[in-house]
Amino acid sequence: MTASSEGKAAAVAGEQDKIIIFDTTLRDGEQCPGATMTYEEKLQVAELLDDMGVDIIEAGFPIASEGDFESVQEIAKLAKTSVICGLARANPADIDRAGEAIRPAKRGRIHTFIGTSPLHRQHQLGLSQDQVHERVIQSVTRARNFTDDVEWSAMDATRTEFEYLCRVVEAAIRSGATTINIPDTVGYALPEEYFELISKLKTSVPGMDKVVISTHCHDDLGLAVANSLAGIRAGARQIECTINGLGERAGNAALEEIVMAIRTRHDLLPHHTGIRTEMLSRASKLVSAVTNFPVQYNKAIVGRNAFAHESGIHQDGVLKHVETYEIMTPESVGVGKSSLVMGKHSGRAAFKSKLKELGYGLGDNALEDAFNRFKALADKKKHVYDEDIEALVDEGVAHMNDRLKVVALTVIAGTMGPQTATLTLDIEGQSKTVQSTGNGPVDATFNAIKQLIPHDARLDLYQVHAVTEGTDAQAEVSVRLEEDGRIVTGRSADPDTLVASARAYVAALSKLVVKRQKTAQAQQAV
Ligand code: KIV
Ligand code: ZN
Repeated sequence: MTASSEGKAAAVAGEQDKIIIFDTTLRDGEQCPGATMTYEEKLQVAELLDDMGVDIIEAGFPIASEGDFESVQEIAKLAKTSVICGLARANPADIDRAGEAIRPAKRGRIHTFIGTSPLHRQHQLGLSQDQVHERVIQSVTRARNFTDDVEWSAMDATRTEFEYLCRVVEAAIRSGATTINIPDTVGYALPEEYFELISKLKTSVPGMDKVVISTHCHDDLGLAVANSLAGIRAGARQIECTINGLGERAGNAALEEIVMAIRTRHDLLPHHTGIRTEMLSRASKLVSAVTNFPVQYNKAIVGRNAFAHESGIHQDGVLKHVETYEIMTPESVGVGKSSLVMGKHSGRAAFKSKLKELGYGLGDNALEDAFNRFKALADKKKHVYDEDIEALVDEGVAHMNDRLKVVALTVIAGTMGPQTATLTLDIEGQSKTVQSTGNGPVDATFNAIKQLIPHDARLDLYQVHAVTEGTDAQAEVSVRLEEDGRIVTGRSADPDTLVASARAYVAALSKLVVKRQKTAQAQQAV
């Protein structure tokens, strides 16, 4: 072998070793009930994923709504390095809409899918094997008119007859698909079984060596990550996953777990990803904040306790030699010691550099707004921590376009009762004030909101957690409302729990107002 052919072989091996990370937080993740994100939130998450080195961002399902289309299109315009992907069912309208949405991307992908299992064919689609086969050919061929980068998924692949699966995969490859995804849609497979399936497809389907094989595993049996890793061992080179494992039902394979398993167990998984792992913690917090899905305390990699050592024996071991109980460093996933940042005397320049350190790149107006709110917080709170600043900035972005805003709130609480709230709201530019009582201060506050904005939405979730330690910590409040099947969420952080509660509730209502208007417009258009 000559030096140059050796070099080439090494480069090819390097590429072979790379695992392509396909993030579907904004599509499969957003599909899970209650995890809806606003347009601004989606752009914020996409920007972070792009900066973090995600190879492909599945930005949405463009045909699903005007909002989905617009956010995919805007993300396609803004993405710096990630490929931007739009999802489409196997029909012309879906594919054309996805093609239109990804058009502005430097690199765009269409991901088209159809159910292939007997259950999906018969009960969901009402199509025969031949009809589904025909749809595969038509959809992939049509998608190739928009882009050379077409992914095809056999939905419910793990419950599809093997011979038939081979037939449709081959048809997709012949029609021009460049990535073949083998989803475990219902999270049914076991790791050995999934390994076998990918291995057998590789040897049975002509052309399989010319495409990228992808995994898409759901977590119904808690095996999504294990199955995805089994897929890699069998030859898959793209993993579909989401931040915090968000997704339909029990969710998808968690991106942070896949990436850190590959990094930590390089001895058995000799691969690499392009992910900047120091951003994982920040990504987890952002997605949790915008979706109002709390991260379980003992969640691998990004849970609050993932690097905490409580028992004496463990603490003793870690002090003597950190590797006794830690298989990766907290710094490698971006968990630093909660650091005291600044107080009320800190200036704009220091604040800006802190934001940069935390991974935020705000425009001038957003920076000015965040700085003013930081000053207000520093006036109330002696110690301002990194977590406080993250909550403050995320809150600013989340509330940028709210139509309803809390202007003032005074609450009388305590043993004497009745607890009373006096509330002023800005309702689409008009200021209105009411007073209301309730069974406790939160109830009184929410009753006041109801008086000003009458609605029948049911309060599905009201959750409070402290952003940091200490009695002056900011309270982060999440609220989820449901009205006629429409689910909306709101969140807010403030040292005053009641102010945060009122703002979170009003933010959720703001989204509900927008959703109601969209439904009305859609009905008028029909
Ligand atoms: O779970 C699934 O099969 C999907 C497809 C659209 C890939 O989400
Ligand atoms: Zn899925």
